[in-house]
Amino acid sequence: MVNKIRKAVFPAAGLGTRFLPATKSSPKEMLPLVDKPLIQYVVEESVASGVESILIITGRDKSAIENHFDISFELEQLLKERNKLDLFDQVRAISDIAQISYTRQKQALGLGHAIYQAKDFVGSEPFAALLADDIVDSEIPALQQMVEVYERYDAPVIATMQVDGEDISRFGVIDAEEVEPNVFKIRDMVEKPPFAEAPSNLAIIGRYIFTPDIFEAIEQTKPGSGGEIQITDAMRILLQKRPFYAVKLKGTRHDAGDKLGFLIATVELALKREDLGGEFREYLRSLDLG
Ligand code: UTP
Repeated sequence: MVNKIRKAVFPAAGLGTRFLPATKSSPKEMLPLVDKPLIQYVVEESVASGVESILIITGRDKSAIENHFDISFELEQLLKERNKLDLFDQVRAISDIAQISYTRQKQALGLGHAIYQAKDFVGSEPFAALLADDIVDSEIPALQQMVEVYERYDAPVIATMQVDGEDISRFGVIDAEEVEPNVFKIRDMVEKPPFAEAPSNLAIIGRYIFTPDIFEAIEQTKPGSGGEIQITDAMRILLQKRPFYAVKLKGTRHDAGDKLGFLIATVELALKREDLGGEFREYLRSLDLG
């Protein structure tokens, strides 16, 4: 019997330099798409995929994340008094969503180093890691699509999407063999290859299912540029020892940690909203885009 994915880790200790000045003193993960912070989208996705217990890796200036998932006593009181029960339920649901704990990555030494902070929390179970920058708008939650593959192959799984043209150079890229539609067995992976050297058009995006042996691989990973420990390097070490799979996700992925990606995600999600979509569409139509 394959172990169930009950635990998820959310690295949220990066500096968010692509989104300055907004991220100077507030966390990137709290930027709202329409009216919901990025981190809430991914936490909800993980819970919808079967996750029960969550660890958020935070850094300095990240207390807003903890407050967001805590009970807001005064606000709840006020909403009750004013009989705004729908809003009360919405606000309360956020603090009831899952068992959430926090740990600090004291220095932003890379995603591999951030994930390593989850070693004790994870123990001997497989676990998911999700990045709040990558918002996946899909019918079946992105992590759920990966869990299904993990359960079939009993091996780590990463998420990929197709990126055509030179943009592939901005991603980690896999070299892989398709073993069933949209599922790949990974041969190798490279971080940000020049376009001409990219082994495929399949980019790695911010969803991972790891087995606990990833921690040993992170321990063996040498720091790369800027002293950062890259998770891709740790995964390459593990790839020597065990099979690793990738799933091409069904859905639309938005890079909400990038200014343009964030704007696109905002427009697309707002257009889909029942309460806002109609008026917003009309407004967009009225624009002179000449
Ligand atoms: P990014 O590569 O997007 O880095 O990290 P960043 O610092 O957040 O943002 P930019 O590129 O400077 O704008 C990917 C994910 O890994 C986390 C980030 O919080 C983000 O969710 N991360 C990165 C850490 O938790 N710690 C790190 O040391 C680096």
